Amino acid sequence: MSTFDATPPTVHEQERPASGDGRWDPAQYAVFGDHRGRPFHDLLARVPSDSPERVVDLGCGPGELTLSLADRWPSAHVVGIDSSPEMLARARELDATGRVDWVEAAAESWDPSESGPIDVLVTNAVLQWVPTHLRLLPRWLEALAPAGVLAMQVPANFDAPSHRIMREVAARHPRADELQDGLDRADAVARPETYAALLLAHTHDVDVWQTTYFHVLGAAPDGPHPVLEWVRGTGLRPVLGVLTDETEREAFLATYERELEAAYPRRDGVVLFPFTRTFAVAQLPG
Ligand SMILES: C[S@@+](CC[C@H](N)C(=O)[O-])C[C@H]1O[C@@H](n2cnc3c(N)ncnc32)[C@H](O)[C@@H]1O
Repeated sequence: MSTFDATPPTVHEQERPASGDGRWDPAQYAVFGDHRGRPFHDLLARVPSDSPERVVDLGCGPGELTLSLADRWPSAHVVGIDSSPEMLARARELDATGRVDWVEAAAESWDPSESGPIDVLVTNAVLQWVPTHLRLLPRWLEALAPAGVLAMQVPANFDAPSHRIMREVAARHPRADELQDGLDRADAVARPETYAALLLAHTHDVDVWQTTYFHVLGAAPDGPHPVLEWVRGTGLRPVLGVLTDETEREAFLATYERELEAAYPRRDGVVLFPFTRTFAVAQLPG
């Protein structure tokens, strides 16, 4: 153990369903698959493991990226864990030859040591939905094999117009109390320094960084705003879960979209969508 103290939890641990109120929709999530996949591949590029035996993708989503882990390490036992039955159903469809074990479980109740030590634990774009993750990370690190690696990525864009405007429109809504409950908050994730300190309490082989991607999203003049389509698949789901009445939902979306148009103007058929993400990779001593 190092002289660094494990940092006490500082992310906001409000009570809310782990995945928000709206269901995950694999088709909507896949709309920007290439853009969403890039951070996963950038994260995995920093994982040094050559021949891990047991690889876990926690919050695996619709499975395509998990299958890329099976491609990279064909002899590994790869497990994809997710709390969404919809996402897992899509993953099982994609995995026609059964290369991955798909398991329905919530990160909060998952026992990482139940099937033996883990050589690579990946969790990409998930922990922002797990309010207690700063308390869970040490437990997950302890379940790693010698030389085991934890690789995580979380969005760090909660103050970006896409999310700020969503919160503002929700705050002005007659059902503001219900809407605000499940919305993304800046404190859903910690600062990079916090993740670094937490990981450094277990190993000094720690790599933490932030990257801002400038996504160039196609935007037909009369089509939906692409940032709206993006957040529909993720951060907007809790709002959609509350506004189940079609008229009420459309009114919210129209206001939100109008303000997105001003924040992310369409130019020559595209919209520029900056998106900052925090990455951390830690390898235990061998
Ligand atoms: C933004 S998607 C990321 C999926 C995949 N890791 C990727 O990089 O494309 C978030 C995923 O986390 C899952 N998730 C959310 N909260 C979870 C929890 N508490 N436990 C397990 N999975 C959770 C969701 O069901 C969803 O599939």
